[in-house]
Amino acid sequence: MELKINAARRAKIQPDMIGLFFEDINYAADGGLYAEMIENRSFEFVRAGGDAKDYYFEYDGLYSWNPYPANAAITLRAVQGSPLSENNPHYLRTTVHRAETGFCNSGYGGIALKEGMDYHVTFFARCVSYQGCFRAEVIKDGKSYAMAEISCEDHSEETFNYFRRYHMTLHANQSVTGAVFALIFTEPGTIEFDFISMFPSDAVAGIFRKDLFDTLKALKPGFLRFPGGCIVEGNTFSNRYRYKDSLTEPWNRKNNWNRWAVHENCIENDFCGQYSHYNQTLGLGYYEYFLLCELIGAKPLPVMNVGFACQYQSTEQVTINSEEFFRLIQDALDLIEFANGSTDTKWGAIREKMGHPEPFNLTLLGIGNEQWQTERADFFERYTAFEQAIHERYPFIRLIGSAGPDITSDRYTAAWDFYHKNADKSNFVYAVDEHYYVRPQWLYEHVDFYDNYPRNVKVFSGEYAAHPLSGMNRPDANTVEGALSEAAFLTNLERNADVVVMASYAPLLARLDYAQWSPDMIWFDETEVYPSASYYVQQLYSCNMGDITLDTGGGEKEAAKEGLYYSVSYCEKEGEVILKIVNANGEAKPVKLQIDEEFCSHSRYRAKTLTAGNTAADAGKSIKSEKDRLLPEKAVLSDSEGTVMEEIILPAKSFTVLRF
Ligand code: AHR
Repeated sequence: MELKINAARRAKIQPDMIGLFFEDINYAADGGLYAEMIENRSFEFVRAGGDAKDYYFEYDGLYSWNPYPANAAITLRAVQGSPLSENNPHYLRTTVHRAETGFCNSGYGGIALKEGMDYHVTFFARCVSYQGCFRAEVIKDGKSYAMAEISCEDHSEETFNYFRRYHMTLHANQSVTGAVFALIFTEPGTIEFDFISMFPSDAVAGIFRKDLFDTLKALKPGFLRFPGGCIVEGNTFSNRYRYKDSLTEPWNRKNNWNRWAVHENCIENDFCGQYSHYNQTLGLGYYEYFLLCELIGAKPLPVMNVGFACQYQSTEQVTINSEEFFRLIQDALDLIEFANGSTDTKWGAIREKMGHPEPFNLTLLGIGNEQWQTERADFFERYTAFEQAIHERYPFIRLIGSAGPDITSDRYTAAWDFYHKNADKSNFVYAVDEHYYVRPQWLYEHVDFYDNYPRNVKVFSGEYAAHPLSGMNRPDANTVEGALSEAAFLTNLERNADVVVMASYAPLLARLDYAQWSPDMIWFDETEVYPSASYYVQQLYSCNMGDITLDTGGGEKEAAKEGLYYSVSYCEKEGEVILKIVNANGEAKPVKLQIDEEFCSHSRYRAKTLTAGNTAADAGKSIKSEKDRLLPEKAVLSDSEGTVMEEIILPAKSFTVLRF
């Protein structure tokens, strides 16, 4: 097959087009990117249950905490009275009856240490009647893997009501997984504790789990949308993400249950499933999200709640133009001030106090997550009210609207009618967020999806993924086949870069055995990261976006009939043509490039090709980790080079990026 590459420039490509969608789903934040190793550090965890319209939660403050050793003579009580923080009113009161006993925490699926690494332990304690030492230790089967001791300091009466902060560093003498973190007491006594925390010393900025951070950074993302997803709305309105609760010291951040804790609740599980203790500590709060963006070079895109709980889960809403509604608008204005305001503004000063006097340069803001208009849900009016208030003060902010949860229903058509009607108003909407989780076949069949879109309102392809299958804990839903269909669909986005200005795969992260939603881009466990084939597709795109597309004479239509999907761009700075091409066929396909003479001096190409990592004998078998956990299907990336004028052989079921 011959592929035409003409010199005519077509659509300008936004340099930050390929970005990330982050949501605390699948233990992506707590138990994931947030490097905290202790689960329920503030004794505030709740157990969430129920179903749409009757969600509930019950306090379970000792969750993840146990006596150590298991039969120790020790009382553990989660109490209230004089807490470290009014926002988190509970704390632990313990009475130890015998020396050399204590309590322990099993972290998220067991504590894992890496040999030679230091771990920073912080806790607050009040010695009611105790004069001994605190020994922090990581233990498995009676064996100690790291240990440090500190003597207690405050046992006089004047320290009543006063929590003293302790720091210790544990050094791992050997690697271990599935251990516990224990605090052991050298004497009997009564002590109160709050906020018991442990971070690995390699956590990036003392916050982010390093291997996950590095994996995200390697994607060179153009933007990061946060904090979700349905998390923005909550399953009940009070369960929504409240960013202001996170703009304070970690121990002051109000705990909230995670709306994914109740995913797939049903009568069979008594409306309380296996993730009922999935909580949000807000350790990864808005300061941390902005910092993350800065560190990985992504533009921040926070998403605001417009006064709705998740429209799938609830009809609960704040009345438009009520005081509470205006408070939500004020939240948006305050957020802009927090991100960009000078340090003599109220919210700019808070940013400075948290450690960042320089602005975070916020330019993008999402208005609502996955909202749509109904007779009862006046989303369009809400969008308009937010837009007016924000642009009156901050005309440069680019707003993201919502097209609802799919791209096929009336909700989607109504949304586009709304934005198109307002298209003449300057800066009314920068881009409209579309969501589609679809079968791979759908993506192949719609590689012309954006070819005929009106150009006057731009698209943010904000949540998409191929779903060969889906469900909870299905890393095997991440197949190479699915990823190839995404690569094919992305040729359509790139070719239509004059209308599609941003795109992000969703969801981003999933902890093995803790996933409410599959497929996901990056899987991980307590020690390893397992990027899926979709990850490499995203990376091949984000690292190989040109500045402008090149004309192909419509050749992609013929090619698609042959199971070949391609787009071509040009990078002015490097003076390079970039061809992205998927061969969806089960056999190798030769292609010949017919290149405009402008590029004839570009005789050699370098290529990267993604194919399935399985051998023929392995095909169809599920892949497992050393810990016997199911993994996403492996993809292999290989480098090659050659002469542009010669026939290029595209391997079966492959995605290739050629630069010349
Ligand atoms: O990505 C998972 C969920 O899909 C998001 O939370 C929501 O926006 C969409 O329904």
